[in-house]
Amino acid sequence: MPESNRAVGLDIGTTRVSIVVAEKDEFGKLKVIATGSSHSDGLRRATVVNINKTFAAIKTAVADVEREASLVIHGVNVALSGAHVHCMQSSSEISINQTSIVNESDVHRFLEKAMVNIQNLDVNHEVIHVIPQEFIVDDQDRLLDPIGMSGTTMRGTVYIVVGLKTRIRNIRQCVERAGLKIGALTFKSVALGIAVIKEREKKGGVLVIDIGGGTTEVAVFIRGAIHYSEVINVAANDITHDIAHGVKVHDEVAEELKIQYGYSDTRLSRKDEDIVIKDGEGHSQKTFPRSSLTMIIEARMMEIFELVRDAVMVSGYYEEINAGVILTGGGALLLGVVELARLVFGLDVRIGYPEAVSAGIQGTLYGPMDATVMGLVAHVYESNYSGDHSFATERDAPEKLPPEPVDDILVVQEPCVAWKKVVDGLQDWWAKL
Ligand SMILES: Nc1ncnc2c1ncn2[C@@H]1O[C@H](COP(=O)(O)OP(=O)(O)OP(=O)(O)O)[C@@H](O)[C@H]1O
Ligand SMILES: [Mg+2]
Repeated sequence: MPESNRAVGLDIGTTRVSIVVAEKDEFGKLKVIATGSSHSDGLRRATVVNINKTFAAIKTAVADVEREASLVIHGVNVALSGAHVHCMQSSSEISINQTSIVNESDVHRFLEKAMVNIQNLDVNHEVIHVIPQEFIVDDQDRLLDPIGMSGTTMRGTVYIVVGLKTRIRNIRQCVERAGLKIGALTFKSVALGIAVIKEREKKGGVLVIDIGGGTTEVAVFIRGAIHYSEVINVAANDITHDIAHGVKVHDEVAEELKIQYGYSDTRLSRKDEDIVIKDGEGHSQKTFPRSSLTMIIEARMMEIFELVRDAVMVSGYYEEINAGVILTGGGALLLGVVELARLVFGLDVRIGYPEAVSAGIQGTLYGPMDATVMGLVAHVYESNYSGDHSFATERDAPEKLPPEPVDDILVVQEPCVAWKKVVDGLQDWWAKL
């Protein structure tokens, strides 16, 4: 397998940094060849607040994966998340060229026009993605790819993802100090969508909720494209703090209680039992009923789901979610969470496993916590990202030069159909504005 076929994803989460090296097998399926992770404590609510700690966590995760697979990692594709990321919708309408058949240059003009609407974007923000949502040629049906269609006018909408330059610069600093080059920044919800949504769900309208340690990230996909996203600053670590407060124990004990005995739906909890907390010497310190723990967890989880439901309702997309809800992130591992979500949303709910990755290491099944990082590597192959893919080489391969320091560059990507090349071309145009 040529090394240029490898992709590396890095998810710098609030509680965990995870890294995946994957390649395409001979059948074109994405195969994981190594994974690594480390404890992360340099972020608050998915935003870097301590460069040294974050850089150290990245180094540890990278060393983990390098050791596991005898590889040297040179570069990574990084997930971007947090409340500083904003999304906006822009519309556009153009006349189709004289041949009356939509070509790439029409799509280019269409996207240019859509982006003009955000020309007055605050100088503190950087464009991360320009994602066409739908094209309507004359009065025909909505399309994801209009190239080759006949008509006179084309209208439609575009989803533009921007992030605060300073926050993005912090991420770049951490990654580059770890000696790694950044191939692409990918909005976390875009990566999640690629990892967990089945084609039929995307068309039917689906809500993806990633319940991480520090943030809950929400995205709605309709007719194959992302239409709405939101970051909610309440997540699974808040449940731990609630337990610590309610039971009067340290956060570490609360975390253990949550993982070992946690249940998030009081309707489903079985016969009550006492939970006994012991001190270091094995003496019992405290006893309390398991139902109290369930009540604490249910209250916070209910709040998270209600915040999500209200936000999506305000967005106007709630009625378009016909294919249900997908839960990812570590919070999705809490027992009873699917049942509780069904109650709040009144929709089908399932846990999102990263199905975009068909073959793991010796058949390993990856879980909802791995969805973002798996989506990152899948995204590299889905997009026509033209940069260097050889981000992981064999340990005895000739060493690569250290990466050049990278200035604030504009990253415009998220191509998935024939207009992909057009989006790449827009980068120069946008930079000149
Ligand atoms: N088995 C489990 N049961 C319940 N909760 C769990 C379990 N495993 C992990 N968690 C919780 O999931 C959270 C971490 O999830 P995840 O790894 O998705 O977050 P993150 O990516 O580090 O954070 P964020 O996405 O917010 O930046 C923690 O609060 C952790 O306690
Ligand atoms: Mg996460």
